Amino acid sequence: MTSRVRVGIAGIGSHVPEKILSNRDLEQLVDTTDEWIVKRTGIRERRVVSPGENCSDLATAAAQKALAAAGIAATELDMIIVGTVTADHVFPGVAPQVQVNIGAPQASAFDVSAACSGFLAVLNCGEAFIASGAARRVLVIGAEALTRMVNYEDRGSCILFGDAAGAAVLTPFEHCDQGEILRRSLGADGTGHSMIWMESGGTKQPHHMEGYDSSRNFIAMQGREVYRFAVQKMAELIETSLEGTDPEEFGLVIPHQVNQRIIDGALERVGLAPEKVVVNIERYGNTSAASVPLAWDEALRDGRVERGKLLVLVAFGAGLTWGSALVRW
Ligand code: UT7
Repeated sequence: MTSRVRVGIAGIGSHVPEKILSNRDLEQLVDTTDEWIVKRTGIRERRVVSPGENCSDLATAAAQKALAAAGIAATELDMIIVGTVTADHVFPGVAPQVQVNIGAPQASAFDVSAACSGFLAVLNCGEAFIASGAARRVLVIGAEALTRMVNYEDRGSCILFGDAAGAAVLTPFEHCDQGEILRRSLGADGTGHSMIWMESGGTKQPHHMEGYDSSRNFIAMQGREVYRFAVQKMAELIETSLEGTDPEEFGLVIPHQVNQRIIDGALERVGLAPEKVVVNIERYGNTSAASVPLAWDEALRDGRVERGKLLVLVAFGAGLTWGSALVRW
């Protein structure tokens, strides 16, 4: 049996659209208040794509920054994997568009649909390809233009979501000497598939089919049920990721930016102090697959990520799906 290649993170980058949608702006669109949104979610504003700006543009910009941080040319990549549920088109995926935009004609390119767990899913895939020796340099991206799917008449969901992209370049650890992925996991429970979904617009209910209901062509969710699942799953993923590790080595948890209260609830369960967690939900809302790499990139730029310390990445979302990774920076 061949031995596994150790995999590291050579560079990270992120990108958000310029346009800001504040809670005050939302007060003009739907029956809500800034006070309610801040108290129940921690969100103050989120970024939204402008006309002509699409998921592939966000993904491309994040990819270019990650490549620059890694000091690796696009022509050196052999694979691009994008986690998204808001691709520019139903098909083809965003990854082949990124391949063209960044100039990586030699790289294979495909998308993975795992909603808010999207970045953890592509990170898991990228790690596995390199670890098995099937790839050497893999660009993984979480990118979403979720606000194009939001129903701005549904106050229970429209206040949550924002647009963004985050990317990481993975290489054999011996080439980058940082960010070794020590553990990773993925999971799913398909019995919860209608807890967060966009029911119409797929092949079961396409827009030209008799009985098509355009009100179902938006994100819909059972907020309270998702809330309960999320607190429990986040706590469980943090605990299993850190199992058997030395508490002295622990650095930060970088969780999916789902809701400040969900993050606080999970932290309380596992007994972690708030300063041990990266949270930027106040400025970006829930950006689905982009949220973990966006928070990770900001924490790196803010100098919060200490070399040699352990980082725990956790995410969960529609599917239901979830994923985690333990990384030594
Ligand atoms: O990545 C996974 C994606 N999914 C999620 O992130 C969802 C996770 N769930 C949540 O974050 C929370 O459940 C929400 C933020 C969606 C809702 O917060 P909540 O504390 O669970 O509120 P609730 O659904 O229990 O609603 C409480 C009240 C209701 O009014 P009544 O029935 O008590 O009179 C809602 O109609 O708050 C009302 N409400 C609002 N009021 C003002 C719901 N949304 C709003 C709003 N503004 N935007």
